[in-house]
Amino acid sequence: MEEKKAENTVRILAIESSCDETAAAVVENGRWVKSNIISSQIPQHTVFGGVVPEIAARKHIEAIDWVISEALKGADMTLADMDAIAVTYGPGLVGALLVGVSEAKALAYAVKKPLVGVNHIEGHICANYLENEDFAPPYVALVASGGHSHILYVKGYHDYEILGRTRDDAAGEAYDKVARAIGMGYPGGPKIDAAAKEGNPEAIHFPRVFLEEGSLDFSFSGLKSAVLNYLNQAKMMGQTICQADVAASFQAAVVEVLVEKTIRAARQKGVHQVAMAGGVSANSALRAQMAAACQANGLTFKVPQPIYCTDNAAMIGAAGYYAYVAGQRDGLDLNAVPNLSLAGEN
Ligand code: KG4
Ligand code: ZN
Repeated sequence: MEEKKAENTVRILAIESSCDETAAAVVENGRWVKSNIISSQIPQHTVFGGVVPEIAARKHIEAIDWVISEALKGADMTLADMDAIAVTYGPGLVGALLVGVSEAKALAYAVKKPLVGVNHIEGHICANYLENEDFAPPYVALVASGGHSHILYVKGYHDYEILGRTRDDAAGEAYDKVARAIGMGYPGGPKIDAAAKEGNPEAIHFPRVFLEEGSLDFSFSGLKSAVLNYLNQAKMMGQTICQADVAASFQAAVVEVLVEKTIRAARQKGVHQVAMAGGVSANSALRAQMAAACQANGLTFKVPQPIYCTDNAAMIGAAGYYAYVAGQRDGLDLNAVPNLSLAGEN
């Protein structure tokens, strides 16, 4: 039985297909997840050691109708119950994005509902509002995913200032590349996370790259090279490496820099709250160390449940809600923008 909809309830059907998950969700008022369906393509890409864009697009086409109907079914609703349809239109793989964008446009046209295009990174940030009534800007956010690593000052729901970003690899990319080098396969993040629990984070000293004094940017390619050099040297000397120690030592270097710079940013901006988002924020060591550092600095710390850290559509429903109530309406000319930047980014 469907509950009666309160006067001011806004229901969004959200669609996400920017990388290797095809996802749909129904979210109420940007906060309450009525359903969250994710069809992962990870097994299809694992054999290739990473995401193959062509395969991703094809798999999205196969899964998109199913995830949407499951999301509506799971929420016990129909398209007619929705107030708007939100969809990720960038950044991401163009062929993958186009599947979600075309589907959202077709549905919006067919059932005459407003269409709202959402930035994927903004979606990650807004995952912090899910299942949580009280969290609100201003705060400093660390967004660390497979494609992006940013520190942002979130002034309002749709008002961001970029304080720092990666100059080369994203944090998740470094995890994935290092995992591949130590023979753990794709996706590397969760595998390193698990292996590191068995290893000694002080076994090998890998560099912590802080860049120039005061900079809130990141650089992870030097760390990745240091791990590769360590592995090559061990190989040349005929030594067997301890995967768990390499994983733990690499992770310690990444986490230390992410935590330290995020805390510095929060101090610089004088905020009282810190949030974290993106696939890497599912990492157990990062969650524990960021929580401890925030506590030591008198900052409130917020991070989504792991399922809302990695790619999902509920987060697009949260971001879509705030765009919708701010009056954003997109036309049927909405297109995929693979290199879409965040508002204020140059
Ligand atoms: O946000 P996301 O699902 O997709 C992008 O927008 O990129 O992030 C995926 C990234 C991958 O690089 C993956 O290895 C990493 O997040 N990741 C993790 C963990 N779970 C996913 N990295 C470290 N620890 C994890 N537990
Ligand atoms: Zn993502």
